[in-house]
Amino acid sequence: MNSAKQRLIFALDVDNLEDARNWVAKLQGQVGVFKIGKQLFTRCGPEVVRLVQDGGCDVFLDLKYHDIPNTVAMAGLEAQRLGVRMFNVHALGGFEMMAKLVAEIDRVSPRGNPDRPILLAVTILTSSTEETLRRVGIDRPIQVMVPKLARLAKDAGMDGVVASPKEVGLIRDACGDDFLIVTPGVRPTFASQDDQKRVTTPGDALRSGADYLVIGRPISAAADPALAADMILQEMQEALNE
Ligand code: C5P
Repeated sequence: MNSAKQRLIFALDVDNLEDARNWVAKLQGQVGVFKIGKQLFTRCGPEVVRLVQDGGCDVFLDLKYHDIPNTVAMAGLEAQRLGVRMFNVHALGGFEMMAKLVAEIDRVSPRGNPDRPILLAVTILTSSTEETLRRVGIDRPIQVMVPKLARLAKDAGMDGVVASPKEVGLIRDACGDDFLIVTPGVRPTFASQDDQKRVTTPGDALRSGADYLVIGRPISAAADPALAADMILQEMQEALNE
């Protein structure tokens, strides 16, 4: 890594191939990675992954697998075959689930291989409150659970986590520098906050130790999306140059 462009992940939050194609065409100069989530992938399948790749860009397949270890590992192998740059699982699926996934990916694409995907874990969804956790029997505070699950992911051999920008410090303390952190909830100074509650600017997210930023509406809702992406890249580059 890594230019600002390679660290900027655009959330492709659309529901059809045509819109996806238009966004890739519009942003392929500025954005290195496009995030494809459950809705778009369920509707369009692998075709939308290829569409992004044909545009010369990488894919973050955001399907957050959580199942028995074998099922997650087999799904992960399919993601690897699709050639996605990164995909994710829920750390709450447990150590064995993540370790089995890592072992299967090691088998087909050892560390250092250019086609090896980055394996990410989600710790606690930022939509969860402590009450949400209590109702499923987790009594510990989120501030404890997030670094605990990040460390579990690291110990299982995962490459990093998806986390709120506000959690980056806790995760760095628990997992050290050799662990990737991908953060949504990023808002450049020129954009509205939408429904994101705890936001950070792109520059501050990188300064606090994030490696990749996921950004959607500050770009998609801008009057000139390519210009908005350019302004974000500039903010990111300034932080990277410091
Ligand atoms: O439009 P916006 O920049 O808020 O988009 C952020 C993207 O990151 C969306 O696809 C959203 O689902 C995702 N995301 C998030 N917060 C999380 C995890 C994922 O906003 N904690």
